[in-house]
Amino acid sequence: MTTAYSPRSWPGVIEAYKQFLPVTDATPRITLLEGATPLIPSVAIGPSLPGKIRLFFKHEGCNPTGSFKDRGMTMAVSKAVEEGARLTMCASTGNTSAAAAAYSTRAGIPAVVLIPDGYIALGKLAQALMCGARTIQIAGNFDDCLRIVREITDNYPIALVNSLNPYRMEGQKTAAFEVCDVLGAAPDFHALPVGNSGNITAYWWGYKEYHEKGITAGCPRMLGFQAAGAAPMVLGHPVPQPETVATAIRIGNPARWRDAARAVEESGGLIDMVTDEEILAAYKELGDREGIFVEPASAAGVAGVKKLAARGFFGDDEVTVVCTLTGHGLKDPDTAISLAVEPEKAPADTQAVVKMLGLAD
Ligand code: F0G
Repeated sequence: MTTAYSPRSWPGVIEAYKQFLPVTDATPRITLLEGATPLIPSVAIGPSLPGKIRLFFKHEGCNPTGSFKDRGMTMAVSKAVEEGARLTMCASTGNTSAAAAAYSTRAGIPAVVLIPDGYIALGKLAQALMCGARTIQIAGNFDDCLRIVREITDNYPIALVNSLNPYRMEGQKTAAFEVCDVLGAAPDFHALPVGNSGNITAYWWGYKEYHEKGITAGCPRMLGFQAAGAAPMVLGHPVPQPETVATAIRIGNPARWRDAARAVEESGGLIDMVTDEEILAAYKELGDREGIFVEPASAAGVAGVKKLAARGFFGDDEVTVVCTLTGHGLKDPDTAISLAVEPEKAPADTQAVVKMLGLAD
């Protein structure tokens, strides 16, 4: 059997997009072959929305550590190694710490991760621990963790690998390149959850770069969605005690606030908020209508698109809308189990199962 496709040809985002990245042949490639994630057409949610919306999901949960953070982390850690770093450090709501742990381990340098005690999903904690990061639970929220990490990395020779690190943004912009490469054009709208505000900024930079280089004819309008209990950009002021079921975006004072605001303004987009109920409804719908299992924060973009579509925001013409699904559902098994129906029980007996299924009386 031969096929036109090679399962082994993808080299990871640095090598694939090196002409757009601040790397040279001498830059080490610390990679888990991240990127090339699927752009999946919606079969249920998109068609059921009012208007003519071609909806796609950019499933970033398919990256090696299960979130979009791998794109930025391959760049941040590769550049840290090139620059001689001996230690990496980050604050995280979980996914950044999982990626920092994995990529630092591959580079052979230790990682220190600061996480809010009690507010990170179980899968993410397991990843940081299994990949050998020194994991410190701080009695505070993400904003406290980031403050401490900034103060330490300002004063000690440690590579900061949060999205304040410009190389993280460079890596993350490759997701926008992939969307355009697959669609053959930029979408009309790009929706995604917003926490520390790095990803929406990185996508915008990627779309702008492809456009400025003449690869695409236009750019999408960027649609960012925060959780209602953690929506500083919508409210216009920091939120001291952010609260949401979507722990990945439980952030009250985003580090990239200004950049994200500029991205939204330049693109003619918006930042809005969605309630935990709307997030969880989209989370369940992605699972039971699309067959795509994401973590709760990842559903915020979809919840936002549903909300905007319901009020006619997308108009009557056909539009292409891409939602980034930022992280895999296996990251947060607790939330999934708490919302799912209980499994049924049966004896170890074929006839009993046949009867349960209504296949025989
Ligand atoms: N979705 C998921 C699953 C995330 O983990 C994050 C951020 C976001 C969305 C928001 O992206 O911060 O660039 O606006 N997680 C960070 C972390 C904060 O530490 O893992 P953002």
